[in-house]
Amino acid sequence: MTDKLKIGIIGSGGIARGHARAYKNLEHVEVVAVADIVPGRAESFIKAQGLDGARAFTDHRELLEFGVDAVSICTPNVAHHETSIDALNAGVHVLVEKPMAVTLEQAIDMVRTAKRTGRLLSVGFQPRYDPNMQMIKEIVRSGQLGTVYYVETGGGRRRGMPGGTFIRKDLAGAGAMADIGCYSLDMALNALGYPKPLSVSASTYNYFGTSPKYHPEADRFEVEDFGVALVRLEGGITLLFKISWAMHMDSLGATMFLGTDAGLKVTPAGSGPWSGVWDGGVGSITLYHDLFGQHTETPIPVKRHQIDIFAEKVYDFVRAVQEGGPAPIPGDEILYNQAIIDGVLRSAESGREVEIEIPEI
Ligand SMILES: NC(=O)c1ccc[n+]([C@@H]2O[C@H](COP(=O)([O-])OP(=O)(O)OC[C@H]3O[C@@H](n4cnc5c(N)ncnc54)[C@H](O)[C@@H]3O)[C@@H](O)[C@H]2O)c1
Repeated sequence: MTDKLKIGIIGSGGIARGHARAYKNLEHVEVVAVADIVPGRAESFIKAQGLDGARAFTDHRELLEFGVDAVSICTPNVAHHETSIDALNAGVHVLVEKPMAVTLEQAIDMVRTAKRTGRLLSVGFQPRYDPNMQMIKEIVRSGQLGTVYYVETGGGRRRGMPGGTFIRKDLAGAGAMADIGCYSLDMALNALGYPKPLSVSASTYNYFGTSPKYHPEADRFEVEDFGVALVRLEGGITLLFKISWAMHMDSLGATMFLGTDAGLKVTPAGSGPWSGVWDGGVGSITLYHDLFGQHTETPIPVKRHQIDIFAEKVYDFVRAVQEGGPAPIPGDEILYNQAIIDGVLRSAESGREVEIEIPEI
């Protein structure tokens, strides 16, 4: 018997490597098992990541029977639901990669099961550990902006379309909206305190994904590569949300929060150090945040290598498991994120605004 926290990793592809590395850094924590449905893949992963002594399985249920305290679920989106439900029902805490699930129904089921079993369900949004994002949240929640009534967010890749499971509707759920849109939604909603979404009116497109000129798997491309949505949130807040995997433009613009006392503009993530333009009262000043969240009016380049946000999300999950919760990025919050993506798809398909209904859990 070991007194270490026993970890299992389900799905041993790209993102699982970051989870394994983070767990390895922690004392009193050991990755004891890895499951991947492709025979031989878990074994290779264990070897490549130096997870000495870990057991390999091809079925996550065998991993759960073997016995672990917590799992990282790093499968493609389509398997997040089944593996999370099985883990929670086996009394195991879950850190599931983003997006939470493929459908809203699956996400509801996952949250219900976590509640019933009393196990933690946390979703892997590592940008939450970026001090810049924490600063945005602090500014918005501090009330310095006054009443926030409008938020615009989104992200745009110019040429950044994935393939494989990411472009199949039944396997991924949605395209750019779910894959990278869930991050923008999380940044905005987390800063606002995750208000409930009420309705959404959206349009989606896939001109680039379905064109052999732009995508090698054009004949199999079933999801959206661009989407825009107007979302009504509880508290009279309007959210404009737009995302692209491909477009003839460099950016879809900044994230901005408009309040009755001040506004906050954040440069698009990935375009260099984040900066915030703060425009309140007379004139405006530009704030830059260093890695430790210090305000300064002098630009300080963000040294991202100083903080490994991928590892931080794993450390925080482990801490929560060890201390008995709560989940750092709780499934019942991220349910709202999934509900918006679900609403986007329904609205785009019907060509009209749709209500978002989230049952009490
Ligand atoms: N947080 C992030 O920054 C980030 C980055 C990339 C991917 N992701 C998310 O992580 C997930 C995995 O993405 P990836 O790029 O690592 O994919 P990947 O294809 O590289 O790896 C997925 C692995 O899961 C295995 N698998 C599939 N179904 C399984 C099942 N039922 N049980 C066990 N193993 C199974 C596959 O064989 C594969 O080895 C996706 O949901 C993706 O959205 C998150």
